[in-house]
Amino acid sequence: MKNYHIITFGCQMNKSDSERVSKFLEESGLKESSASEADLIIVNACSVRQSAIDRIRGKINNVKKEKGKPVTVITGCLLEKDKKEMQKLFDHVLKIEELPNWPLPILEKRKGERFTVKPKRCGPSAYIPIMTGCENFCTYCVVPYTRGKITSRPSKEIIDEAKEAIERNHKEIWLLGQNVNAYNGDMSFPDLLKEVNKIKGDFWIRFTSSHPKDLSDELIDAIKKCGKVTKYLNLPIQSGDNEILKKMNRPYTTEDYRALVEKIRGEIPDITLSTDIIVGFPGETEKHFRNTVNLFNEISFDMAYIARYSPRPQTAAYSLKETVSESEKKRREKLLEELLKESNMEKNKNYKGKEVRVLVMKRTKKGFLMGKTEKYKNVLFKGKDELVGHFTKVRINECTSWGLKGKVVKK
Ligand code: SAM
Ligand code: SF4
Ligand code: F3S
Repeated sequence: MKNYHIITFGCQMNKSDSERVSKFLEESGLKESSASEADLIIVNACSVRQSAIDRIRGKINNVKKEKGKPVTVITGCLLEKDKKEMQKLFDHVLKIEELPNWPLPILEKRKGERFTVKPKRCGPSAYIPIMTGCENFCTYCVVPYTRGKITSRPSKEIIDEAKEAIERNHKEIWLLGQNVNAYNGDMSFPDLLKEVNKIKGDFWIRFTSSHPKDLSDELIDAIKKCGKVTKYLNLPIQSGDNEILKKMNRPYTTEDYRALVEKIRGEIPDITLSTDIIVGFPGETEKHFRNTVNLFNEISFDMAYIARYSPRPQTAAYSLKETVSESEKKRREKLLEELLKESNMEKNKNYKGKEVRVLVMKRTKKGFLMGKTEKYKNVLFKGKDELVGHFTKVRINECTSWGLKGKVVKK
């Protein structure tokens, strides 16, 4: 067995786990290849929505058709119910936590847990999980079942990993956890941010996700004072209606959320805010949805990840009767997306003529370079490949609802 191919679904936590899988396989002598040339196919699954699980079936059947018979492995976030079906589709269903001991004959077995395997990093961003698991049990969410209880990594391990990434020229550190504010290692999350901020070098620090119930004054202060921590915050609200929030087991009210945003904007006036929203939760009437629309307009987020509710086995909401049709969920999703576009257009206009610092992420299919500003805005511009992975200055000359376009400012 010589070649492997890995397919990753889900969030940055899964991307980060896949980087460790790749490294582990390569340390055993395998090389990354296209799916058609691979002898070993790994799928790293996400169960947050049914659609992601359905896509796995399609992908694996295609892969099996393409080539003789590669060995197939599925890992990642899987519900018990899906594991049974996956056992029929894949040769192995393996736990990501047990990566160093995966029982594949071609792999060299080792002691220890997944974080003993170093990641194979690619691109300018280094993803560093600081904790895994979640104990919040929002009624719609599978994560407490797929990732289990909270385990936090020791701060030294995290700081060492960040230092190593900076030494290897990564320009952006992402500290990851399902709720980073619940980090309970040997220091608090704000203190951990301060420690990573002390690492020498020119880089940005980002983190995700933060549950509004746990966002402390200390964290706001750390974001404000740490120069390398970007002034960008993802603060998932999920719904703008108190009744729905209660049914979701989100233990805050819209009034609490508004007050929190006011406090954050009072302390850090130029902060950009993103959020997560679920539309069509069981029982969400037009009146409830209107409350979400009103809050959405009022807060004017810079970005929002809008999801149509997907009932998931094992979760508490699974037993609730679905009351919103798929077409109505789509309508609500589209309406919020349109509002987001309009408010972004207004905000992005302010960038015209300005110079922004951009971290160049990649070349797009259409041949542009694509970068991100500190505020996580997309910027497209023309330039050489050498710029990828570096900071550069871009003067903005075009603003759209999805981002900015400009020209590199010659030094
Ligand atoms: N921990 C974060 C928080 O407190 O909001 C969110 C992590 S969750 C894995 C990522 C996003 O997926 C959620 O914010 C939610 O909007 C969405 N999500 C989770 N379960 C969902 C479901 N059953 N249907 C639709 N979207 C869902
Ligand atoms: Fe899921 Fe986030 Fe709620 Fe945890 S806090 S159960 S990860 S939505
Ligand atoms: Fe992430 Fe999906 Fe797992 S959102 S934590 S990969 S269930």
